[in-house]
Amino acid sequence: METMEKLFQSNFKKGAYPFYESLRQHDPIFLMSQQQNQSSWIITKYDHVKELLKTQSFIKDQSKLFSTSPHDTPQDEMTTIFQNMMLDVDPPDHTRLRKLVQPYFNPKTIKNLQPRIEDIADLLIMEINNKKGKIDLINDFAFPLPIIVISELLGVPAEDRNKFRRWSNTIIAASDNMATDFVEDVQAFTNYLTRLFEERREEPQDDLISNLLQAEEEGEQLNRTELYSMIVLLIIAGHETTVNLIANTMYALFEHPRQMERLQEDFSLTENAIEEGLRYYSPVDFSTARWAEDDMEFHGKHIRRGDLVLASISSANRDECKFEQADEFDITRKDFQHVAFGFGIHFCLGAPLARLEGKVALEKLLSAFPEIRLDEQRQEPNWRAVFLLRGLENLYVNID
Ligand code: HEM
Repeated sequence: METMEKLFQSNFKKGAYPFYESLRQHDPIFLMSQQQNQSSWIITKYDHVKELLKTQSFIKDQSKLFSTSPHDTPQDEMTTIFQNMMLDVDPPDHTRLRKLVQPYFNPKTIKNLQPRIEDIADLLIMEINNKKGKIDLINDFAFPLPIIVISELLGVPAEDRNKFRRWSNTIIAASDNMATDFVEDVQAFTNYLTRLFEERREEPQDDLISNLLQAEEEGEQLNRTELYSMIVLLIIAGHETTVNLIANTMYALFEHPRQMERLQEDFSLTENAIEEGLRYYSPVDFSTARWAEDDMEFHGKHIRRGDLVLASISSANRDECKFEQADEFDITRKDFQHVAFGFGIHFCLGAPLARLEGKVALEKLLSAFPEIRLDEQRQEPNWRAVFLLRGLENLYVNID
C-alpha cells in the first residue's frame, strides 16, 4: 500500500502529474486500498472519468447499501451535515435541492454580479497598493474576492470571512482525517448559522438565506438539516475552489512567461486562460466519493457492491488521449472539454460564478500590476496537503 500512502503525503501534489500519467498507461483503474469488505479505486483516464460521473450505477448515498442504515444510528453533527448536502445525495432528493438554488447560479443571473465583483476586486487592489510589505496573492486577493462575493450572495456578513475560512479549512481537513478540533469548529459554525437564521427570520432580506428560510418554513421543499447543509456547502464550495482557480492560474502564468506576455498583449484571451488554468492545475483534484450500487465489471476490473470509487479530475484533464500536448500550458488552446467542474448531474452549480470571478480577477490584477511576478526571494510555493484539492499555501509576488 505504499502508493496509497504516497497520495496522502504533503509533497505528493508536486510530483502528482507524472504519477497519474504512469497510472493512465499501466493501471488506469487503480486499486487504492483493499479491505475485506470494501475496496477503494481511483479512475484516471478522461473517458472513464466521464463515464463514472455520469452513470447511475455509482451512487452518492452510501447508506442505501447497508441493511442497517447509518441514518438509524446516532450521527455526529458533521456527518449529518455532509449526508444532507446536495453533493452527497441522489435523485430525487438531489433534483429537489438543486432546483431550489439553481436560479441563483444561472449564467444570466451571475452576469449581473459582474459590476459588484469588479468593485470588490478594485477595492482589494487598492489595499494591495497601500500595503508596504510583501504581497501574498492568496491572502490579499484570491481568498477575499470569492468569499466576499459568496457571502453577499447568501446574505452572511462578509466581515466574518476569517471565521468561515477557519471552519471550512477544518471541514476539508476532516475529510482527509487530518483535523483535530473539528467537533468544536463544526459546532461553532452551526451555532453561528442558527443565530443568523434567527435574525433573517425576524427581518428577511433580499438574499438566498432569507429565501431558503421561507422555503423551509413552507415545508415540502427542504427540511431544517438540509438548510444547514446547503449553506455550509455553498460557503465552502463557493470559495475554497475559486481561491485555487485564481492562484493556480496566476502561478501557471508565472511559470510560463511567454503565455503571460501573450495574455498581457491581448486580454481577449482571459476567458481562455481561465479554462486552461482549470485544466492545467485543476482546483479540485478528485471528485467526491461514489459507491458501486452492484457488483460490476468496469473496464476490466471487478468492482464490488459498496466499493468506493473516486475520479481523478486532474489526471483526466492531462490525458493525452483527449488533449494534445496535455502537459503544456497553452492559453490559446481550443480543445476545452475539461472536467474541472465535474460532469453529469452533480456538475458544479457555481461554474458560471467561478468563471466570472476568475476572469475579473485576472483582468484586474494584470491591468493594475503589469510587472507582477513571483517573489524570487521566497522559496518555491508549496501545494497544500489536502487530498481533494489542488491549491497553494501562499503565492508571494512583487508588483513593481
Ligand atoms: C460541485 C468544482 C466553484 C458550488 C462541484 C464538482 C466539482 C466542482 C468538480 C463536482 C464534484 C463531484 O461530482 O464529486 C469546482 C471548481 C470551482 C468551483 C473547480 C472553482 C474554480 C464553485 C462555486 C460554487 C460551487 C463558486 C458556488 C456556489 C458547487 C456545488 C456543487 C459543486 C453546490 C454540488 C452540485 C451538485 O451536487 O449538484 N464543483 N467548483 N462551486 N460545486 Fe463547484
